[in-house]
Amino acid sequence: MPSEGRDRQLVVPSPMLRPLCPWPCYPAKAVQRPLADYDKLGAAMTNPYCQSGPARASKVAELFTRIAPRYDLINDFQSFGLHRWWKRRLIRLAAPRPGERALDLCCGTGDIVMALSRRGVNSIGLDFTEAMLSIAQRRKAALPAGESSGRLRFVAGDAQELPFQNDSFDMVTISYGLRNLADWTAGLPEMLRVARPGGRVLVLDFGKPDNARWRAVYFAYLRVVVPWLGRMFCGDAQAYAYILESLQQYPAQQGVENQMRALGCRNVGVVQFLRGIMSINYGVKG
Ligand SMILES: C[S@@+](CC[C@H](N)C(=O)[O-])C[C@H]1O[C@@H](n2cnc3c(N)ncnc32)[C@H](O)[C@@H]1O
Repeated sequence: MPSEGRDRQLVVPSPMLRPLCPWPCYPAKAVQRPLADYDKLGAAMTNPYCQSGPARASKVAELFTRIAPRYDLINDFQSFGLHRWWKRRLIRLAAPRPGERALDLCCGTGDIVMALSRRGVNSIGLDFTEAMLSIAQRRKAALPAGESSGRLRFVAGDAQELPFQNDSFDMVTISYGLRNLADWTAGLPEMLRVARPGGRVLVLDFGKPDNARWRAVYFAYLRVVVPWLGRMFCGDAQAYAYILESLQQYPAQQGVENQMRALGCRNVGVVQFLRGIMSINYGVKG
């Protein structure tokens, strides 16, 4: 992460006012913190869903089981509908052709994999949360005849131990999933293992903007507004406070880009949205 602004001071509300104020410049009872500390504020919280080590996967599955019925609705609210546009961009970057084979990991309710199958791609969506997969299955059943049917399949499984042979897919995608894995560094090699040589690998997720002030504003949004939406729609603020906490433990676009290069991918690149708030990493298996 570039060190821009690291040494500057930022006015942050006192701990009591902080939950009410999404903006770091709120004037009352201000304390002075270095900008670098602001990144860590969320990490000081202890979120029941954000565990490290072996407990992580079961907590993540518990979280998505809990929010599954409202997942799509909250996605629209928290991103102002923009997640649909970012997902469409991922599909365009994947450049799918009819008859190709695609695997979408952590497919959730199936946005990516349904879009791929609409383009004539034989698509598999994999996820380990039954509640998310059953919504995906319902959405598949509601598709107009011929739009997906035989080309689209959902599989229950762990993205870190894929039940597929090496070199099986023309493209492997993951959206808002890599950050959730118990070990994201194990997820990317597994994606590459099942992609064929020359196959495309794409990762869409929350990013970390380089600009420290912009990052502080965005983290404040994730820390205040998004958990509030979680409380309103799911009765569980922590389930959405989890986004910021998981992001703080994840190296985002820069770390994913470095690992893609280290794993020998070709044509590695990153598309950033809203000055780095969201990003798509892409590469081709060498
Ligand atoms: C934020 S949702 C993303 C859903 C969908 N890809 C989208 O973009 O809307 C994350 C999904 O990852 C799944 N997930 C997390 N860890 C997983 C793992 N190790 N294996 C399979 N699925 C996992 C969760 O069950 C959840 O459905």
